[in-house]
Amino acid sequence: MLHTSFLSIPFHNPLVLASGILGVSAASMNHVVDNGAGGVTVKSLSKEPRTGHANPTMIASDTHMLNAVGLSNPGIDHGLGELRMFKQRSTAPLIGSIFASTPEEFADVAKKISTAPIDILELDISCPNVSTEFGEPFAYSPHAILTIIKKVKAVTDKPISIKLSPNAWNIAALARVAEQAGADAITAVNTVSGMQINVQARMPVLHNKYGGVSGPALFPIALKCVYDIYAAVNIPIIATGGVTTGEDALAMIMAGATLVGVGSAVYYRGTGVFQKIVVEMQQIMQDEGIASLDEIRGVAHAS
Ligand SMILES: Cc1cc2nc3c(=O)[nH]c(=O)nc-3n(C[C@H](O)[C@H](O)[C@H](O)COP(=O)(O)O)c2cc1C
Repeated sequence: MLHTSFLSIPFHNPLVLASGILGVSAASMNHVVDNGAGGVTVKSLSKEPRTGHANPTMIASDTHMLNAVGLSNPGIDHGLGELRMFKQRSTAPLIGSIFASTPEEFADVAKKISTAPIDILELDISCPNVSTEFGEPFAYSPHAILTIIKKVKAVTDKPISIKLSPNAWNIAALARVAEQAGADAITAVNTVSGMQINVQARMPVLHNKYGGVSGPALFPIALKCVYDIYAAVNIPIIATGGVTTGEDALAMIMAGATLVGVGSAVYYRGTGVFQKIVVEMQQIMQDEGIASLDEIRGVAHAS
């Protein structure tokens, strides 16, 4: 019922762990597959290890999470070992994720990660929390998107998905640029920029002041991004942003998604969230007489 083919890669269900939620360790990625995830995305890896931002880096409420982790990761050389270890224990599709500070560095890291048994390579050009270090995210610039995709395509045979930002006002037009540059898929979306102020302390809660908003509050924003991108391109979409229930996942597919990323919901509902969403999707599909996800993909565009 939930079987999904994405770029000719079979997923037993469309739910994939979003990047950054459970780090780079093979053990935690294997754990979510054992608990119902159709596939996993590793936390974004960079050329060198990064410690990320100072604490506090994260706060959460019933409606959203706000994080400024700052892309902390052990670096690509360490990450390669974890990716290999994941695949020794699992046949589930693995999405490798990388970020870099220049298009040339993207190509260097892409070349390295392509030696690992990843099925898809995701390019994180959209983290909103590191602009003081990296300047404006590449995800706002058609020229940067084009250059990065062309440079990465030249060094890898892996299909690539480019991760876009809901902070860009013209996300559908940027998705079209990515498609024309040769991207195989679009991941939409990363977190949306936000902040919180502690009124008693009279200062921002996060040490970094700004962070990225994820979780349920992001869902309607992400859903519209996916809807607009689906209307603009012919390449498949990994819809990510606030998906917490089976109903959310089906809405993303009706907007045009092929895969559905699940991130903050792991915090809200535990690592069993994948199996819970699977059961909820199956129940709704049964009630609504839907036999397969292909039957409803993009269906909301007809109205
Ligand atoms: C703590 C945290 C760390 C994240 N790290 C990354 C990352 O390293 N790379 C990336 O592409 N996205 C990262 N993200 C963004 C998520 O992959 C996802 O796009 C976003 O959280 C929206 O989905 P959600 O509402 O299901 O969490 C991170 C999100 C959170 C909450």
